Amino acid sequence: MRDSTFHSDGVDVDDQRAVYETSLGAIYQTTVEEALENPDFSALHGSVQLIFTSPPFPLNRKKKYGNLRGAEYVAWLSSLAPRLADLLTPDGSIVIEIGNAWEPGSPSMSILTLQSLLAFLEAGDLELCQQFVCNNPARLPSPAQWVTIERIRVKDSFTNVWWMANSDRPKANNRNVLSEYSPAMLKLLSSKKYNTGDRPSGHDIGSTSFLKNNGGSIPSNVLSFSNTSSSDPYLRFCREQSLDPHPARMPAGLAEFFIKFLTDPGDLVLDPFAGSNLTGAVSESLERKWISFEPLADYIAGSRGRFPALLA
Ligand SMILES: C[S@@+](CC[C@H](N)C(=O)[O-])C[C@H]1O[C@@H](n2cnc3c(N)ncnc32)[C@H](O)[C@@H]1O
Repeated sequence: MRDSTFHSDGVDVDDQRAVYETSLGAIYQTTVEEALENPDFSALHGSVQLIFTSPPFPLNRKKKYGNLRGAEYVAWLSSLAPRLADLLTPDGSIVIEIGNAWEPGSPSMSILTLQSLLAFLEAGDLELCQQFVCNNPARLPSPAQWVTIERIRVKDSFTNVWWMANSDRPKANNRNVLSEYSPAMLKLLSSKKYNTGDRPSGHDIGSTSFLKNNGGSIPSNVLSFSNTSSSDPYLRFCREQSLDPHPARMPAGLAEFFIKFLTDPGDLVLDPFAGSNLTGAVSESLERKWISFEPLADYIAGSRGRFPALLA
């Protein structure tokens, strides 16, 4: 562990030793509960623009880092809501990614994720700004028993992403996350001809506003990212160091989307369940400040592989 203290504009985390740090951020080996109780982190109050995280999921099979189940999980996750909400700037956001869960030994979905969302919103007195799904088209068919063996369910390929805030108008700008126009749209824009008039829905789509090039199309709340790369620097670093890669890494595109959408360069992003510190690395690349908490030393050790400058 390096003897270092994170100091950057507006954030001054006294006496806490970061495991590693950059000029923009630092990762601490701690549980979120300990960090929230620790007066050294009190400077975070009111200064975090975005909490972007994927907490341990309520899984049927236990992962290395352990997962609570059922009512215990709902109570634990929601107990964090008011304390996390307190860390936000007045127009800050919390974005939580959480996978679907299934009832043990049954082809029924668990409603735990939904219960968790409702309990979290209520406990934190938060607004649900928008719900997203994050589809992974390359996901292997699961749950295997019901999908590939009995063939009575289809593959479960998305995770839930909940965007929440203390107010109904947190900082957000969809111009920062425009999608590339499709070839058909580009053709339409260059032809300058649009078939106006009533749509089947009864809407009249005006005339020229659709022919203006806005630099890209407004994305929907159905996001899609594959998470299949086996040759990224993180995985290479883990292999070289004989460290197990984190088993539940999220796609980099997901972090990039929300960090660009909900923050500006220089804003502070916190991931209280950092795992492989993807959030910190993406924040760094987008020139946002970042702080990450993760209790497991091996995951933190592997996450250095996301910061080439630290390895030089
Ligand atoms: C789903 S993973 C996060 C993965 C991460 N988004 C990534 O892309 O690498 C959840 C992480 O939370 C950590 N964790 C579990 N309990 C925790 C706690 N009480 N406080 C902070 N982190 C915790 C686990 O060790 C695990 O690495």
